[in-house]
Amino acid sequence: QVIDARGHILLPGFVDMHTHLREPGREDTETIESGSAAAALGGYTAVFAMANTDPVADSVVVTDHVWRRGQEVGLVDVHPVGAITVGLKGKQLAEMATMAAGIGRVKMFSDDGHCVDDPLIMRRALEYSSSLGVLIAQHAEEPRLTVGAVAHEGPTAARLGLAGWPRAAEESIVARDALLARDAGARVHICHASTAGTVELMKWARGQGISITAEVTPHHLLLDDSRLETYDAINKVNPPLREKSDVDALRRGLADGVIDCVATDHAPHAEQDKCCEFSIARPGMLGLETALSIVVDTMVTPGLLDWRGVARVMSERPAQIVGLADQGRPIEVGEIANLTVVDPDASWTVSGKKLASVAHNTPFEDMTFSSKVTTTVLRGRITVRDGVVANRAGE
Ligand code: NCD
Ligand code: ZN
Ligand code: ZN
Ligand code: ZN
Repeated sequence: QVIDARGHILLPGFVDMHTHLREPGREDTETIESGSAAAALGGYTAVFAMANTDPVADSVVVTDHVWRRGQEVGLVDVHPVGAITVGLKGKQLAEMATMAAGIGRVKMFSDDGHCVDDPLIMRRALEYSSSLGVLIAQHAEEPRLTVGAVAHEGPTAARLGLAGWPRAAEESIVARDALLARDAGARVHICHASTAGTVELMKWARGQGISITAEVTPHHLLLDDSRLETYDAINKVNPPLREKSDVDALRRGLADGVIDCVATDHAPHAEQDKCCEFSIARPGMLGLETALSIVVDTMVTPGLLDWRGVARVMSERPAQIVGLADQGRPIEVGEIANLTVVDPDASWTVSGKKLASVAHNTPFEDMTFSSKVTTTVLRGRITVRDGVVANRAGE
């Protein structure tokens, strides 16, 4: 097990708080096996698999399956995220305690892709979560403010006739849930922060002593709404690509620690659901294999973050937020070896068909990035060597 790391950067294994692996239900777009390969290639040693599968991960049957299957594949720890309610937009809290006590040891519950808009349900979920010692992750969208199927706004979108997901839909839920968390004495985590206003609200809530954390996606750090000019549905995502000023605020927020971490929101969709008219396309983008490269080019290259900061936002903070004791550790003598090696001078061009996911459509097609993950080590075992998946469990 020799690793040639001359001129390379050694980082703690990455932790993704927000991945959609589509198993069970949509294995034509991603499976736990294909998604684990994509995660390992992206430098991840732990991912959190979102609950909007089919069936929804609202029971211990589903959450235990996700954990077990991830361990069988053996490329990355696949932590199941439980649904907050029974079923999509459910009115009844899921059995969080049972999922937390299962083999999958659910540590985080979410409404992502799923939308708990009822403030009373969110308030009860937050109270319950603090007594269980688990985290509530909020998709942050007020659905009654999100008009129609097309989720974009801003001057560009308005000119193009794309309307639908105003900033207020996100920011009103961020403010609401910060206050609910305060009153419940609970923690809340904001998924995929996308607006300058959310960054301001995060500063305000922290100033009030509220236990609130937030993530930003690589695509919201890189892309803005000028992409929508082509009406190409490959750029459709929840929350939508916003204005350049939002991108700048998110980058500064991540640099300052107001935004805690990067999470991919890796959301694979079938070709026919992305290569169609914008209004009927599904929202979501592949993210696992390009995340580190995008963080480097948007944050390290312009001097907003150093490599210490990359370790913080890709590994240490997410592991702390969600309570993973064996991940996100600084690289020190005596620590378990969950490691990622990055070549900082490995220029590469994205080709969707070469990505490990079942779905191959990506908004980053033909884009060139300056750095790349070369090696990933999970508990001392090499899972990726020279950019190729090396060992599955038992090999
Ligand atoms: C998510 C998905 O595809 O599961 N899509 C996305 O654009 N982030 C669900 C969601 O959060 O809307
Ligand atoms: Zn979401
Ligand atoms: Zn939604
Ligand atoms: Zn998501």
